[in-house]
Amino acid sequence: MVRENEIRENEVAVTPPAPTDAGLTFIGRISTPWTSRMETPRQGRHDGPVCRIEIFEPWVAALKGIEAFERLEVLYWLDRSRRDLVLQSPASNGKVHGTFSLRTPVRPNPIGTSIVVLEAVEGNVLLVRGLDCLDGTPLLDLKPDRTLFKPIAPPQPGDFQTGDDTPKVHYCQKA
Ligand SMILES: C[S@@+](CC[C@H](N)C(=O)[O-])C[C@H]1O[C@@H](n2cnc3c(N)ncnc32)[C@H](O)[C@@H]1O
Repeated sequence: MVRENEIRENEVAVTPPAPTDAGLTFIGRISTPWTSRMETPRQGRHDGPVCRIEIFEPWVAALKGIEAFERLEVLYWLDRSRRDLVLQSPASNGKVHGTFSLRTPVRPNPIGTSIVVLEAVEGNVLLVRGLDCLDGTPLLDLKPDRTLFKPIAPPQPGDFQTGDDTPKVHYCQKA
């Protein structure tokens, strides 16, 4: 069961580098019915409660056109989670899983993502269903659901590239 920031049997924590938050900007705040992790859904549902996403200035103009999308991808900062576990035991049964094989909020960069249903846009506020975060969670970004979005910019060569039929180059080569 998800609790607060305790460590469970066989879980492994490391000493992480001091967090710098990569210079992210919180662009808004999410209001939800949940104030305890014990009650928050593990994954949001599209028939869940309406939650409120408030966008801060100067980002409100960036909402232009968003009402055209039935569903949005929401990225948020799971600000109250610890960040130092590499092995975790979600079932609290001593069996551990690597952090990157889980969607746990406990991760080095606690980014949460959800696909939500957009119910309404009211000025700088979006009303959505499908979230699973605590009340007051900082908002990182909003994007149209990728399955609904068609690129507006002209196509470029990589868009048509399939398989491995590319020149033999080494990507991300060490210097
Ligand atoms: C399992 S995560 C999933 C988040 C997102 N849907 C994802 O898959 O990336 C959801 C859980 O994170 C926890 N949580 C939600 N908001 C949080 C916050 N602001 N800080 C820390 N933990 C949070 C709650 O326990 C909630 O059940």
